[in-house]
Amino acid sequence: MKVVVLTGAGISAESGIPTFRGAEGLWEGHRVEEIATPTAFQKNPELVHQFYNARRRHLLQDHILPNAAHTALADYEATHDDEFLLITQNVDNLHFVAGSQNILPMHGQLMEAKCTETDKVIPWHLDLTPHTPDPETPSRRGRLRPNVVWFGEMPYGMDKIRRAAQNADLFLAIGTSAVVYPAAGIVQQTPKNCRRVEINLDATPQSEVFTETIRGLASIEVPKFLKRLQSEETI
Ligand code: OAD
Repeated sequence: MKVVVLTGAGISAESGIPTFRGAEGLWEGHRVEEIATPTAFQKNPELVHQFYNARRRHLLQDHILPNAAHTALADYEATHDDEFLLITQNVDNLHFVAGSQNILPMHGQLMEAKCTETDKVIPWHLDLTPHTPDPETPSRRGRLRPNVVWFGEMPYGMDKIRRAAQNADLFLAIGTSAVVYPAAGIVQQTPKNCRRVEINLDATPQSEVFTETIRGLASIEVPKFLKRLQSEETI
């Protein structure tokens, strides 16, 4: 059984990372859609860096850890004997920390920086400023930006995502509001006979496309669902 999982901010909420569209969806009075854009970075790079610096520092705190949903996905993948792809919209690194292997962070990663000249991506854990040079660009013209995909930019891995979705036997969407495209449209690319399961606190605009909808906390419902799946597989 070929499994494709798509996760969003809801899976990390119980790890202490605020979601985008929840009550705390604003940052210092700005909507995320106003900060996470190339235009905002051009006009006010300090503000954009401040936003991501704060998120990076938050993520680096010792108490921000994977929860039972991240761990259950990693454990499931470790015993799964067919293709498994974990697509995440999250820029936090909690799936990596939990031990998942085949991860595609389609919106990039906060703990990485990208050179504005060469597009090369390097691991990065420190604050960035508009003047932080790319240490690897000989011209020193390159500046570093967070390796996160902004509104209006193309997410990573779209070809791989399309191929995986078109071949999926099971598509599992966890903790995503399904309003940001192209991620929200991945479920539509799965074949007719694909089992499509949505685990989320609330209904989403895509809920009707799913064959099963489970309402509840990811930390409870994801381990429960994956356990049920494993017992179905062994029958
Ligand atoms: P959102 O904040 O839009 O949605 C989070 C979803 O998770 C909501 O539907 C919540 O109901 C649900 N949720 C919250 N807590 C949960 C929990 N404990 N268990 C289960 N579900 C829970 O986040 P995303 O859908 O990930 O893009 O947002 C998509 C993209 O929009 C992000 O990747 C980001 C953002 O702007 C970029 O930055 C490009």
